Amino acid sequence: MKNRHDFYYKKAKDENYKARSVYKLEEAQKKFNFIKSTDFVLDVGCSPGSFSQYMLNKVLKTGTVLGVDIISTTFKHERFTFIEGDIRDINLDEFVSVNKLFNIIISDAMPNTTSDKETNHLRSISLCDIIFKSTINVLETGGHFFIKTFDGRDLNDFKSDLSEHFTKVSTFKPKSSRNESREIFLLASSKKE
Ligand SMILES: C[S@@+](CC[C@H](N)C(=O)[O-])C[C@H]1O[C@@H](n2cnc3c(N)ncnc32)[C@H](O)[C@@H]1O
Repeated sequence: MKNRHDFYYKKAKDENYKARSVYKLEEAQKKFNFIKSTDFVLDVGCSPGSFSQYMLNKVLKTGTVLGVDIISTTFKHERFTFIEGDIRDINLDEFVSVNKLFNIIISDAMPNTTSDKETNHLRSISLCDIIFKSTINVLETGGHFFIKTFDGRDLNDFKSDLSEHFTKVSTFKPKSSRNESREIFLLASSKKE
């Protein structure tokens, strides 16, 4: 693994976070302040668990998180529920009601990557599209969607799809993201009626 012992890796270890990824979400939250203390959050691709750990320990005073991942997590918290499985196969309707939809959907899910950047980009956009389509109906009007992808030629098409459903779509490259990585995050804010 590249830069295994880089600054953020060591910081995550020192601060008892399960992954260095946590600092990407922390930076986004500091910049956009989009997660509120009472929110009900869906964390797609949540394992090993650092995003959920950060939200529950630092942001969500009373809010709750539903985490979904193909791989299990050892993260435990009284306001965290974990479902093991592929987001495509999970019936999210079981976890929401008309009066209680998700306020935020977050996805750090990543497809299997190869050495070919174009393939990684296309796989990532395809996964993002699946996640978007399988979760948009369980997000409340006014809710936000924060998702990781890899930059490339189909990014603008995906952003256009998001723009049809959200008031604003911002692109965010965290400082803690590795320089050589093409990963970026999109924050689609305020779901339209
Ligand atoms: C980079 S990791 C997420 C790290 C996590 N945000 C954290 O802070 O600990 C990406 C995760 O996405 C999951 N994933 C990829 N495709 C998925 C899918 N279709 N459904 C659910 N999880 C998926 C992988 O199993 C992997 O655990």
